[in-house]
Amino acid sequence: MLLIRARFVKILLLIISIKIFLLLIFISYYDSDQPSRRSKRIVLINELLIDKRNEPSWEQRLKFIREEMPSFPLEELLRRNCSTEPNCGKVPKFLAIDFSNDYWQTVHIENLTYHLFGAYYDNREKITEAPLVRVLSMINNYGARDKVKYPDSYCQMWFKNRVDPVIANNFHHYAMAADAFNRILNEMIPYNDCFYRNMYKFDYVGVFDTDEVIMPLGNITKLSDLIELAHKVPDYERDATNCTTWASFCFRNVYFPLYPERPKFYRNLPSFYYMLQHVERVAEHCDRYSATKCFHSTQFVVGLHNHFPIFYAQNGECDPKSVPIEFAQLHHYREPDNKTRLLNPVVDDNIWRFQPQLQQRVYSKYEKLGFLPDIQQWIDAENRRRKDDEQQLHAAIFKT
Ligand SMILES: *[C@@H]1O[C@H](CO)[C@@H](O)[C@H](O)[C@H]1NC(C)=O
Ligand SMILES: *[C@@H]1O[C@H](CO)[C@@H](O)[C@H](O)[C@H]1NC(C)=O
Ligand SMILES: *[C@@H]1O[C@H](CO)[C@@H](O)[C@H](O)[C@H]1NC(C)=O
Ligand SMILES: *[C@@H]1O[C@H](CO)[C@@H](O)[C@H](O)[C@H]1NC(C)=O
Ligand SMILES: *[C@@H]1O[C@H](CO)[C@@H](O)[C@H](O)[C@H]1NC(C)=O
Repeated sequence: MLLIRARFVKILLLIISIKIFLLLIFISYYDSDQPSRRSKRIVLINELLIDKRNEPSWEQRLKFIREEMPSFPLEELLRRNCSTEPNCGKVPKFLAIDFSNDYWQTVHIENLTYHLFGAYYDNREKITEAPLVRVLSMINNYGARDKVKYPDSYCQMWFKNRVDPVIANNFHHYAMAADAFNRILNEMIPYNDCFYRNMYKFDYVGVFDTDEVIMPLGNITKLSDLIELAHKVPDYERDATNCTTWASFCFRNVYFPLYPERPKFYRNLPSFYYMLQHVERVAEHCDRYSATKCFHSTQFVVGLHNHFPIFYAQNGECDPKSVPIEFAQLHHYREPDNKTRLLNPVVDDNIWRFQPQLQQRVYSKYEKLGFLPDIQQWIDAENRRRKDDEQQLHAAIFKT
């Protein structure tokens, strides 16, 4: 009891002293407002507000790095005992790693700078040099294909439970150089990345813009049936009689322009089903090369451009086949470069074979994206429509 009382008195004293302290501060503040006294009160801050804690230990530092930069290859670097193992391999210094960059790691070799994007293990049956590792990168030497000279480079690969790296020095550069054909080079990075990531999952990979659709024609509606058919049909303007496999199956481009001045093609369908509404196309398809898009065989293709495979295994497969337009075509929902082609369009409503699924899927995507009007707007539109109908009915009755 006595103890509790003593503690109580202590707390009381503490509260009182805090109050007195605050009062003093208040008074001194109030006093300092008086101009006559201000000169006497100079408050000096002698010390900077700096961190005076002890330097963290090596273990603490490692802990901070693990917490703050989980993607930093710390364990990789620590595993290498370069002091005890002379063959541990050359690695960049900790601070030379661009850990703040989400996409690129930079390597300087002589006067060339490589921006490394990704590395992919390739052990495909048809690739004669496999197994190998493909490294996707950009370089700062902007030159024509086959003209650029590369400095000697090699790749070190560390395997689990092995301190010394395996050195791969037979480096082959597949360059997509800066020629007329390849104006936007960094576009190639995501295409090829997508291809390499998916080459063991799928038989074919295609690269498409959002305004492009490969449209099977006739009685074909499934892509798997189209691929099967593509093997059998002739190659447009080529003799493919000796071929059994192809690097890619390509489809000829045909433009479906906007024709903005024309009324809606299907009056009862909202305009926002853009492709279902735009069933007029230019009469002529492009040639087998211009703006074509392809399904690329993951058995053979080594490097992609946005329109063609640019490198492939050349291990029994033929060059890409252009599938004749009786069987399929590439719909391209944009304006043709050649404006003469806008004249005399033809109606091509092959897309309507997919109308129910397409409309339902487009609707649910718009809904998910929040692009559709809300319930009240639907109700208002419905009421307006009903009123219009009633008025028309009314008018019709009174006319007769
Ligand atoms: C690194 O060296 C230390 C000390 O010599 C040793 O205990 C450790 O096992 C070595 N680590 C590897 C991965 O060889
Ligand atoms: C690098 O050096 C070589 C010859 O030493 C030269 O031909 C090449 O143009 C240089 N490349 C760059 C990117 O400067
Ligand atoms: C399409 O028609 C052809 C010829 O009539 C027929 O051989 C083929 O099996 C049909 N394909 C499909 C997917 O119905
Ligand atoms: C197909 O193969 C035969 C026999 O080897 C050959 O005579 C013919 O020229 C080849 N055709 C083509 C288009 O390559
Ligand atoms: C544009 O298209 C028209 C109609 O197909 C064709 O006659 C003309 O040669 C084309 N012009 C060019 C520059 O390709």
